Amino acid sequence: MAKIALIHGPNLNLLGRRERSIYGSVTLATINEAALAWAGDAHEVRPLQSNHEGVIVDAIQQAGDWADGLVMNPGAFTHYSYAIRDAIAGVSLPTVEVHLSNIHSREEFRHKSVLAAVCVGQIAGFGWRSYLLGLQALVDYLADRQK
Ligand code: DQA
Repeated sequence: MAKIALIHGPNLNLLGRRERSIYGSVTLATINEAALAWAGDAHEVRPLQSNHEGVIVDAIQQAGDWADGLVMNPGAFTHYSYAIRDAIAGVSLPTVEVHLSNIHSREEFRHKSVLAAVCVGQIAGFGWRSYLLGLQALVDYLADRQK
């Protein structure tokens, strides 16, 4: 049983309406339902979305008290939030960075993640399925760590 904080950053509450040619038509509610269905009774997943950097920093710090790891789509914070980077480094929880779009094939400012260096890895470009791939990657990483 892994306990996972699933954190969605700014503007991801608009999924389904927002730039559908890039992000698809699946809503955040559907993604969270898929994550909970994936977890079933085997894992605990607690989703949270915020448009505010400080709320995300607080959520990461709090996750340090209960979670085994983080799966996070930090949205645009990916590209410039040293506060979120320091929070991830500060709690020492294994973190998988996920993106719906392939940030490396988009505008140049999206190519750089200031968070990647403090994450276990990054999954980008698989639409809403990036989240499920990220959850599975984290669980596999945690299992390997226990061997
Ligand atoms: C995103 C990519 C970011 O560059 C962008 O700011 C987002 C969404 C993605 O999931 O593809 O808000 O994280």
